[in-house]
Amino acid sequence: MKEMILQSRVVVCTVDELPAMDREVVEAARKATANSYAVYSKFNVGAAVRLSGDIIVTGSNQENAAYPSGLCAERTTLFWANSQYPDKAVEVLAIAARNEHGELDTPIPPCGACRQVILETEKRYNTPIRIILYGAKECYVIEDGIKALMPLSFDSGFLE
Ligand code: THU
Repeated sequence: MKEMILQSRVVVCTVDELPAMDREVVEAARKATANSYAVYSKFNVGAAVRLSGDIIVTGSNQENAAYPSGLCAERTTLFWANSQYPDKAVEVLAIAARNEHGELDTPIPPCGACRQVILETEKRYNTPIRIILYGAKECYVIEDGIKALMPLSFDSGFLE
């Protein structure tokens, strides 16, 4: 018998320590929380992506009285970006959140379903996505793509 040790690398920093290119995407995600429709959870999530060609697209969580019909900010953003700019690779994704008390101090990580969609997007454009999780006190930067948050992931490779 043997074992596998699965490790992930995450950079921890304040928003001011981020490079300007990243800060721009983070600011877009923070701003996008204002467009969230979160009447049930009161948890407003914003996301922003930088596409190749330096196009920034934002989205937010959109809830529904039939709860599972709603969608997270990350998927709203990625699906919108990919449907409007199908030829542009997603290079950077930033996520920010606030609740009724304001912005969260620590970053929120994407849910499992969003991770799966991020993985598919990386595969689709053959480009790892730099993921920046914003928190008012500290940010997490996943520099090498979603694999760091998704060891042993299932993708189209298994269907071949
Ligand atoms: N939510 C997101 O938009 N992204 C996440 O990464 C986690 C959760 C949304 C879904 C729902 O509208 C609300 O936050 C509470 O779960």
